[in-house]
Amino acid sequence: MLMRGFQKTFSIVFGGTLLLSTFSGDACSIVGYVGGKYCKEFVLKGLSRLEYRGYDSAGFACLTQQNHDLLCIRAEGKLDQLKKKVLNEAVDGFVGIGHTRWATHGAATEANAHPHVDCHNTLAIVHNGIIENFFSLKEQLVAQGHQFVSQTDTEVLAHVLEVELQKQLTLDAAIVDMVSKLKGAYAFIALMRDKPDTLIAVRKSSPLCIGLGNHENFVASDFLAFAGKTNKILFMPDESFAVVTKQAIALYDFKGNLLAQEIKTIDVSPATYEKFEHEHYMLKEIYEQPKVIKKMVDYYVNNEQEVWKNLGISPDQIAQLQSVHLFGCGTSWHAARIGQFFFEILCGLPTSTSLASEFRYMPFFPKKNGLYVAISQSGETADTLEAIRLIKAHELPVMTLTNVVSSTMVRETDGHLLLKAGPEIAVASTKAFTTQIASLYWLAHRIALAKGLITPERMAQAEQELKQAADVLEEAIERYKVDMVKTYAKKYSQAKRFMYLGRHVGYPFAMEGALKLKEISYIFAQGYPAGELKHGSIALVDLETPVVLFSHLDPVIYQKLVANAQEVKARKGHLIVFAFEGQDELIKLADQSFIIGRVAPLLEPLAMAGLMQFFAYSIAKELGCDIDKPRNLAKAVTVE
Ligand code: G6P
Repeated sequence: MLMRGFQKTFSIVFGGTLLLSTFSGDACSIVGYVGGKYCKEFVLKGLSRLEYRGYDSAGFACLTQQNHDLLCIRAEGKLDQLKKKVLNEAVDGFVGIGHTRWATHGAATEANAHPHVDCHNTLAIVHNGIIENFFSLKEQLVAQGHQFVSQTDTEVLAHVLEVELQKQLTLDAAIVDMVSKLKGAYAFIALMRDKPDTLIAVRKSSPLCIGLGNHENFVASDFLAFAGKTNKILFMPDESFAVVTKQAIALYDFKGNLLAQEIKTIDVSPATYEKFEHEHYMLKEIYEQPKVIKKMVDYYVNNEQEVWKNLGISPDQIAQLQSVHLFGCGTSWHAARIGQFFFEILCGLPTSTSLASEFRYMPFFPKKNGLYVAISQSGETADTLEAIRLIKAHELPVMTLTNVVSSTMVRETDGHLLLKAGPEIAVASTKAFTTQIASLYWLAHRIALAKGLITPERMAQAEQELKQAADVLEEAIERYKVDMVKTYAKKYSQAKRFMYLGRHVGYPFAMEGALKLKEISYIFAQGYPAGELKHGSIALVDLETPVVLFSHLDPVIYQKLVANAQEVKARKGHLIVFAFEGQDELIKLADQSFIIGRVAPLLEPLAMAGLMQFFAYSIAKELGCDIDKPRNLAKAVTVE
């Protein structure tokens, strides 16, 4: 049986990312403030910290100090646009809300940006998630004479609340009635002119938490927004709402019953969210990799019992284990594909991998003695969460491999293994990817040990291999970083498209390499199995399509890769290889080679990852791209 770990109070300083986000619908961030200080500063700062979650428009609303007028300012584009507008306003208040958006319902225009207001500008709402029945609600409201100015589902909330506040005698009765009319997953914060000292916070499936300050309270979809202001946090239970003033919080269930409040103490140093001397978070996170990988391994070694308990896998379960099933999205899926080799080779367990976004639409064959592992940096990706729920609906235990201990996935699954990578802010995943690989490598060995397939000495050796690969990752970047920026980035930023090739663990790694380049430089790249080149994609090989080939240490696979390199050269392709020291045959064939120190064969992707990421980073920088917040993307995609 898997055991679910429950921590009442947990305290994390560096290395523990503790992020919350929406469950479904708009992948946005919301914050709110009520207290004795002007709210503008906190709201804008809180939004800045969460902006990487969504950044195509933003908005701010507050009740002015005089007359409690509702001031609402919205801006299209990144948060800076909003900041400029808000900071130009002389007006400020003690109660305010803010929002950054990643559009789902309606384009990223100013009109669609939150907050949304009711007909008479008496209240404003910011919202994460999706109101599934917004269309029918809107029709009813329009029939009653309500006027809408946006295409969003959120605006409906403002009007429903307007109606309920007129109808009901108390605020809590209004919210109870309001939520009974809503379908979907949502978190929202509202402020009202008639209640100038109050915020309403409502949560169904989309996380929302309240930070308890000294004569001030904070509300946010992710407590990172108020990290450093307070360490006392109330994670709102699912299907609950709170009436928040600067002095008090009243928490209710959706029937209007008062709930007890479980306050957690979480210490997160705001410094962990700074980028310090680095130009971009991505660069900082690329450089952090050796340190966090080693730290993660040390954590696993030094906290063996706790880690094992949190995994929730009993000795019986290990003994009976017949298969492993890994699933995730994007980069996490690539890590799963690499991890597949670990479990099959090291544990002799047939292992499947699934794209969580496809999972629910495929036939599902429950495996009673299977180990189901969700892989997700954020622990909030909606597709992955839905896959978890489907598996759990079959009464099968699921484990989460994630970077975020307070995530929904950790709460909803039966066990977890933490990546300990520290906050990953850049949208393109780097250190989460390498710690995912390292953690899967460790887990596969640990299961092999528990099954009696390897000795404790071999386990210790595997842990050393991880640390050595982390060193090699660092050396590789150091070796090439100057030339990469000065020469190679200039040259390769001119390319229109790239092909990334690999075999074995190198194939999913090639897909990750291509994804990195696409995400941040907008240059098209395709990750492809090198052996498949001759079956079609070779038609694309020409001088304008550089081919990036990742080598392998296995002699048989290496020779096949040399043959693939020759196929490229025979077609006058431009060949870039990431090869290991001593692989001269391949290196000589290449137009450009990056030579990397040797590591344990299955850890090749880990060793090459830093330089592969730095390659994409340097090209994107050369092109002047917005590296930390690439267009159209969001860090945690909380919509299906
Ligand atoms: C988004 C991000 C990707 C990430 C994927 C999965 O698409 O832009 O960088 O790999 O989500 O995220 P997760 O948090 O579940 O690992």
